[in-house]
Amino acid sequence: MIPNCRSFAAACNAVAGTLCFLLLCVPTAGAQASRVGAALEGTVSDSSSARIPQAAITFRNTETNQSRVATTDGQGFFRADELAVGTYEVRLEHPGFAPGDCVYGVFGVQEYAVSDGSDVLKLDTALAPPTTYLGALGMTGLTAYFALLDVGKIRAGETVVISGAAGAVGSLAGQIAKLKGCRAIGIAGGQEKCSALVQKFGFDAAIDYKTENLRRALREHAPGGVDVYLDNVGGDVLDAVLTRLARGARVIICGAVSQYNADRVQGPANYLMLLVARASMTGMVIFDYQDRFPQATADLARWFRDGQIVSREHIVRGGVGDFPEALLKLFAGENTGKLILALDNG
Ligand SMILES: NC(=O)c1ccc[n+]([C@@H]2O[C@H](COP(=O)([O-])OP(=O)(O)OC[C@H]3O[C@@H](n4cnc5c(N)ncnc54)[C@H](OP(=O)(O)O)[C@@H]3O)[C@@H](O)[C@H]2O)c1
Repeated sequence: MIPNCRSFAAACNAVAGTLCFLLLCVPTAGAQASRVGAALEGTVSDSSSARIPQAAITFRNTETNQSRVATTDGQGFFRADELAVGTYEVRLEHPGFAPGDCVYGVFGVQEYAVSDGSDVLKLDTALAPPTTYLGALGMTGLTAYFALLDVGKIRAGETVVISGAAGAVGSLAGQIAKLKGCRAIGIAGGQEKCSALVQKFGFDAAIDYKTENLRRALREHAPGGVDVYLDNVGGDVLDAVLTRLARGARVIICGAVSQYNADRVQGPANYLMLLVARASMTGMVIFDYQDRFPQATADLARWFRDGQIVSREHIVRGGVGDFPEALLKLFAGENTGKLILALDNG
């Protein structure tokens, strides 16, 4: 019997949704082999039942240091030259990945993950640090991109209002709106965040929904009405923006942070303003756009490289056990930019 098998590719692990998770990961798989005739035959399997790709599998005798290499056949079956009886370190290497590579994938909140490589994306860390791939160049950037360009169909000269504007999706959305020649108005909680919206992310105006009268502020900053509203928060903020819609406005329901923990979800009381403005309100889910991620990611990467968008990450260090506490920061509004839990040992 051959002992456990470890593959040594380093990985970034991420979860979809509002909080992302970053770590270095060492996937493990179990290898079993039996001696048959003059050759060694066996199968490689792992606990998560990921398909084993055609991979090089190295057996290193820990006493003699001699190595033998076999190749799996895509089903996990391998055949190697005869090995002397002994203790072996078994190392499985995916042909598409090298030790030290950083990859992105949706694995859940855990320190280790096994993958056959089909559901992970190799990161170009020369372009941006790994954390950026959880922000501007990840699901966050893609959400802002498709929400505004595909659902909102923003056009140069239009007024775009964004709530949760200092958050991960919102801060990117404002920058994309500006890049496309729109007027961007952000809604966020607190003076510090509102200053950051204008000074760091290039919004034309920012409204502090905690201290300002939202309707009055919208009248001031969007005198011609709101052409596109990207809603990340729902509740009272959504209701206020509905009263200021321009004719033919598009309201994009991206999220509703203010409602996630409510016993009774507050619907939009002012929905009749959609009728008056001949407006539309559309929900969007980023996973519907998966087949277009490569093109969108290329656009985002180009904008990032050219300095047309910046990515801001709010990194909290801790362990897997700190995940719930980190998640709550979203509801307390403690983050500016993408909230990331980075593992201490990552
Ligand atoms: N549709 C999709 O496919 C998709 C994909 C990704 C994310 N989302 C959604 O998009 C939204 C934004 O996600 P994100 O990751 O960028 O989160 P985020 O905006 O970085 O964080 C949430 C922000 O919401 C604000 N907030 C919290 N409670 C609030 C309340 N009661 N009223 C108003 N604002 C409140 C806080 O900012 P302030 O300090 O400014 O209040 C907080 O920083 C979330 O609703 C998320 O679920 C949707």
